[in-house]
Amino acid sequence: MVLEGKRIVVTGGASGIAAGTVAAFARAGASVISLDVNDEPGRAVAAEADAAGLGSVSYLHCDVTDQDEVDAVFAEATSTLGGLDVLAMIAGNEGQKPAEDVRESDIDWLFNVHVKGTMFTNAAAFRSMRETGGSIINTGSGAGVTGYPGSPVYSSAKAAIFGYSRTIAFDWGQYGIRVNTVCPAALTPQSQAHFDKMSPEVLAAYKETYRARIPLGGWLGTVEQTASLYVFLASDASSFLTGQMIGSDGGWTMPR
Ligand SMILES: NC(=O)c1ccc[n+]([C@@H]2O[C@H](COP(=O)([O-])OP(=O)(O)OC[C@H]3O[C@@H](n4cnc5c(N)ncnc54)[C@H](O)[C@@H]3O)[C@@H](O)[C@H]2O)c1
Repeated sequence: MVLEGKRIVVTGGASGIAAGTVAAFARAGASVISLDVNDEPGRAVAAEADAAGLGSVSYLHCDVTDQDEVDAVFAEATSTLGGLDVLAMIAGNEGQKPAEDVRESDIDWLFNVHVKGTMFTNAAAFRSMRETGGSIINTGSGAGVTGYPGSPVYSSAKAAIFGYSRTIAFDWGQYGIRVNTVCPAALTPQSQAHFDKMSPEVLAAYKETYRARIPLGGWLGTVEQTASLYVFLASDASSFLTGQMIGSDGGWTMPR
């Protein structure tokens, strides 16, 4: 019950890491509103976590790339929750293309959700948190730190999240708002889709890279392993921690 009394919004809650984080937050006693564009699984994940957890979970539709929608949904969510203590911005998508073939639409696809989505949701959370303080947890990737072969736009979008998060950690610290970034490596529908697009030869090369670069086990971890880092960053156990980029990735990312 380390999150008892915490009022939390999670984006991307219909699937993968965010779905596991919604469940972990509820198990830890929080009141959670889960947001996604994929409504049917979003509602199902929220209902299951609500039934199983010690906290409460409900679901709202929200496209994080639409600033007006983000503002309206965050106003509704904070009103329902009676305030906002934690934002876990986890919504995302992926895409691979050689840098020489990248078109503007490829940039929009990835920058809209990762960069604009992070900025829109963080600013919406700030409006409530500036009165009370809080914890914002954004989602980066080792791809944005070390590079990731074949994914130049995704890596760039994730790198932008680090610069943004560290800047607002400075700017909003005076309001008691902490801002940290998680770099996950977990087997999810998104990471599985990424591998499914590869030829057997390319997949074998990736597996070899992971084996060499992940000291703990040589492969992706579980959603639960990553969700526990979000729980820590949401809790008062991390109350003096801000501006950090933390890998829950078996050691792939060892940022300075
Ligand atoms: N899985 C990994 O190993 C890994 C590694 C590094 C970073 N990440 C990052 O972690 C986050 C979660 O990844 P995942 O693997 O759980 O993915 P996932 O595909 O399983 O889940 C992503 C969720 O985000 C939602 N979403 C997408 N666009 C949205 C939008 N515009 N508005 C609201 N919701 C939207 C999707 O509907 C989906 O439910 C992403 O930001 C991803 O880039 C994942």
